[in-house]
Amino acid sequence: KSQSETCAESFKTIFENKEVKKQVVNKENGEINKKVVDEDTETRNFGKGLMDSASEVKVKVEVASEGIAPVSKPAFYVPVERDEKIQASRLKLPILAEEQSIMETITENSITIICGETGSGKTTQIPQFLYEAGYGSNGQMIGVTEPRRVAAISMSKRVGMELNLSSDEVSYLIRFEGNTGPSTKIKFMTDGVLLKEIQSDFLLTKYSVIILDEAHERSIFTDILIGLLSRIVPLRSKRNNPLKLIIMSATLRIADYTENPRLFKKPPPVIHIESRQYPVVIHFNKRTSVDYVRESFSKACKIHCQLPEGGILIFLTGQQEVNTLVKKLRRTFPYKKTWNLENEEKIGDDEDCSASDGENVEMSLSKAIQEIRKSRKTVVKALPEINLDSYDLAPADDTEADMLDAEDEDIAETEGDSDEEWSSTVEAEFTARSSQPLWVLPLYSLLPSHKQARIFEPPPPGCRLCVVATNVAETSLTIPSIKYVVDCGRTKTRLYDNFTGISMFSVIWTSKASADQRAGRAGRIGPGHCYRLYSSALFKDEFEEFTMPEIQQKPVDDLLLQMKAMKIERAVNFPFPSAPNIIQLKAAERRLAILGALETSCAKDEWSSKLTPLGEAMALFPVAPRFGKMLCLSHQHCLLPYTIAIVAALSVQEVLLAENVNTAKVRRMWAGVGNSLLLGDVIVLLRAVGAAEYASSNGALGEFCLKNGLNKKAITEIRKLRKQVTNEMNLTIAELQLVVDPQMKPPSDLQAKLLRQVVLAGMVDHVALKLDQDQLTAAGLRPHQPAYRIPEMEDIVFMHSSSVLRKTRPQWVVYQEVYQLNDKMYMRGVTAIEPEWLPVFARSMCTISEPLEDPPPRYDAESDTLLCHVNATFGQSGWPLPVTEIE
Ligand code: CDP
Ligand code: MG
Repeated sequence: KSQSETCAESFKTIFENKEVKKQVVNKENGEINKKVVDEDTETRNFGKGLMDSASEVKVKVEVASEGIAPVSKPAFYVPVERDEKIQASRLKLPILAEEQSIMETITENSITIICGETGSGKTTQIPQFLYEAGYGSNGQMIGVTEPRRVAAISMSKRVGMELNLSSDEVSYLIRFEGNTGPSTKIKFMTDGVLLKEIQSDFLLTKYSVIILDEAHERSIFTDILIGLLSRIVPLRSKRNNPLKLIIMSATLRIADYTENPRLFKKPPPVIHIESRQYPVVIHFNKRTSVDYVRESFSKACKIHCQLPEGGILIFLTGQQEVNTLVKKLRRTFPYKKTWNLENEEKIGDDEDCSASDGENVEMSLSKAIQEIRKSRKTVVKALPEINLDSYDLAPADDTEADMLDAEDEDIAETEGDSDEEWSSTVEAEFTARSSQPLWVLPLYSLLPSHKQARIFEPPPPGCRLCVVATNVAETSLTIPSIKYVVDCGRTKTRLYDNFTGISMFSVIWTSKASADQRAGRAGRIGPGHCYRLYSSALFKDEFEEFTMPEIQQKPVDDLLLQMKAMKIERAVNFPFPSAPNIIQLKAAERRLAILGALETSCAKDEWSSKLTPLGEAMALFPVAPRFGKMLCLSHQHCLLPYTIAIVAALSVQEVLLAENVNTAKVRRMWAGVGNSLLLGDVIVLLRAVGAAEYASSNGALGEFCLKNGLNKKAITEIRKLRKQVTNEMNLTIAELQLVVDPQMKPPSDLQAKLLRQVVLAGMVDHVALKLDQDQLTAAGLRPHQPAYRIPEMEDIVFMHSSSVLRKTRPQWVVYQEVYQLNDKMYMRGVTAIEPEWLPVFARSMCTISEPLEDPPPRYDAESDTLLCHVNATFGQSGWPLPVTEIE
């Protein structure tokens, strides 16, 4: 029998089989009768913990080692000597009273769901129960996953402290940092880290138990982990090395796990932890304020000056906002003259919404690099110029801070209102009225952990505690002594545009469930108050019930690509807690295959295809797969900055549509610039963006846009996106060190041609062919109409009059999007292509003949390839293509 099985059986003997326990105890120690055993249980129920008395431990251990019935190895409780103060504070947690029933449930079931309000002690206590019950012994670890890095670090420290163990024994591992080692017994990690471990050790044999914490956050990684573990757990049972799975969650959407037979055949038991929650009075604002940072400031000032004792917790959306407000509050109610945020907290990175983001990237990275090396020849066009040895990843979080900078610029531009102005008036008013200092602390996920830890310490005497936090304080961390919550009602989240697939951070309304979570933070120590800086009507009408699981927010093309990169094939059969739509999944599989990201030839069926090396490289980039492919193909000829600008420009609509300007005229004007007439909208867009940036660096953006018919808002948006994508590229491939060049030179003719090929490669399923005269007549159209056919649609599509290609009407084009307008279908974002490019860049869409004998094949020394001439047709209807030379 495996060690852990023996262990589990021993628990069973001890916990469940009271009869055996009683007898044994009696046998060992005549005086101990049933009552003593019961008292023992009772003591534990009051949270003292079985092992608080060493003698009791001894009895248990010795008893077990007497070799009772099925136990071959000693079952034991690992003794723990806790600090008295710690033990006293543990005793206040209701969860301590539940230790026995929790452990019984865990012993009897391989999967257990534990839910309870934030602060009830799930994260800090359950790992301790398991440790004491011996789950960290026998060379196996207790693994705890957190969706946020901040929780992984701080919880490992807290649990280590409570157990009186070193950081070698209770450790953490996040993407670039950790202190786990051979003596680790309890390991806190981000969910991404565990996913990565599954790739190298599918059965997770190092662990006796896995706790998935904060499952209600529904991060994609936790969702995928639940799916994977639902299969790993039975496998481990079969191998007589059982693995326990514990899913911990706030009391939200538990049905996704329990009423999901695909996930768990038998619904796992749910343990509800009661928590002491005092009533919280909710105060809504009469109207919803737009400038919620300012509003938070004055609300905090009012609370501090007018309301009785009690900590204040303010929810904002990001690090920048947090720091701004902390600074202002410290200045208004100074604790010490020297308290200076600028020196203390340099603005670093911020991102609370997806702390482990990017870990999937890291996961597939080394594999991808190996594959790319192996088959360099096939992807030689993809990544020829980067040094494959020096891929590195930096935290994926700078972006948000940067974006905020950009946003701040915008605000300054539009409102003409400086930060300083608004606070000085309010500041003056309030400083006069309160002399009590405010102990203001920031809290966000990437704040160094020793600074985070300060929220758990009492404020200096005479000070009121005020924590300004992002949504990290919503569930992951519980701050003691909060009586007032100020909730801005917003959250920053990564939103994906279903159409373009570009992801960006946006501030959106939070959900009702999370607003209630926030309010609940005020009722931990006594009755509290929550001030919502928005109206109750808004809450009622605009807030969703729950925050949608990330997996249903994201476009599935991307998800599928990421899962394949994680070696999870057959996503359709994957037991998601909430599944993405299957039709969407199927369409995504098809689109990825067409893009060349999936190896279809060796697949057993339509779902089992693996990633190609190109697909692995595409999976590295945080943009829609088709844009990822464009970026992959852009490493040569310094194309990358241009492709980034194109990807950014394509995801912003109406760039060339300024008000009061004749669009067609503007298009024609731009079309004439630098002879881009024949190339297409994308190249024109690129020129427009470049020119606008140039103008902007001379401080004349507004004037320039007006004069040249550009939409200034769109241009600003594109700039933000360029910055974001550039940052992400740099993070993914550190070697690149791209900068957003404000003075991007127009592409050379060669570059423009290559860029069109790149655009084609990303849009192979968006090719259109012009109708010839006969077809026009047959369709009842006048001659010279800009009418096109596309493979998957019966309808004829038209080139819109706003396209620069409207006059020249090249025979073959790719388009970004088809849309309907007054019963007619129009193409948007059109680029001219050459039919010879199709067998090369859109091979998956072509039927290609055997190599022709005439002209004969030729060897190209430069690319070390043999080039053959072939006949080819495009698409299912077999549009003939000219004889083409391909590899
Ligand atoms: O996981 P859950 O939200 O159920 O609770 P927890 O994080 O285990 O916290 C339980 C209690 O421990 C809370 O009341 C916290 O205030 C306290 N705690 C603390 O005082 N210091 C820490 N570093 C962590 C938790
Ligand atoms: Mg917790």
